[in-house]
Amino acid sequence: MTTQNDQYAKIGDKYTDFKDTAPLSGPEQYNVFKNLGELKDASVLDLACGHGHYTRLIKQAGAREVVGVDLSPVMVDLARKTEDEQPLGITYHVGDAVDLPTLGKFDLVSAVWLLNYATTKDELTAMLRGIHRNLVPGGRFVAVTVSPDFDPHGPELDAYGIRVVSETLFEDRGAVTMDLIGANETSTITTSRWTQEALAECLSAAGFTSYGWHVPEVPEESVQRFGDAFWNNYRSNPNTGFLVGTRTAADLEPGAE
Ligand SMILES: C[S@@+](CC[C@H](N)C(=O)[O-])C[C@H]1O[C@@H](n2cnc3c(N)ncnc32)[C@H](O)[C@@H]1O
Repeated sequence: MTTQNDQYAKIGDKYTDFKDTAPLSGPEQYNVFKNLGELKDASVLDLACGHGHYTRLIKQAGAREVVGVDLSPVMVDLARKTEDEQPLGITYHVGDAVDLPTLGKFDLVSAVWLLNYATTKDELTAMLRGIHRNLVPGGRFVAVTVSPDFDPHGPELDAYGIRVVSETLFEDRGAVTMDLIGANETSTITTSRWTQEALAECLSAAGFTSYGWHVPEVPEESVQRFGDAFWNNYRSNPNTGFLVGTRTAADLEPGAE
């Protein structure tokens, strides 16, 4: 089973502009690192690494070994270009997280905006199995995905860089089309907002017994930069859900059920 929906083939640099300039990137990055915890000497697999934004930051934070994987050759080319220009010792692969082989046994797997690209529960389970099988027992994953509680018709997030265009509802998910608004460029993507129930079912099918959701905080730096009231809509309707799990010794091997 593979997903071949490379929406990022056409986006490339536009996504980089969004990531570098949208106010939303501040809280996202703060909460990613808060949830990743200690990185010194860790081995880390960064799934859906894109142009290497977090991959590089994770290595710079002291990780021993960092491997990035992304479906989109365009995004991996951007990541490799930066690695060639300013080498940090990161290895990048083009690969589909739905069909992920065992690349190693990692202390941490980061998956920032991956699970939301699954469009069926089979794909979502396969992604989570890939995460599980690449973790050492006791290893953790940090996934950023569209929050199951996000209300596309709720308080707007335009000021932070996200404009909802539409949502089509299916049984277990909404397909949310949104504009990513950077300082110079706007791109449009469609992404899955999975329900809590579907995520719980797929986490269990993938072998995870220990996981939880973390409400994102707005860091002081973002408050200083934009003012406290600026963040009110984000606080009341965050699109970002932080899912953190551990591969425990008691978990079944993926696929062993
Ligand atoms: C919103 S970008 C996030 C990139 C990076 N994690 C970041 O936060 O800057 C989403 C990335 O997920 C990748 N992606 C989507 N489906 C994927 C899949 N099935 N396997 C691996 N990567 C995938 C896309 O190619 C894209 O680069």
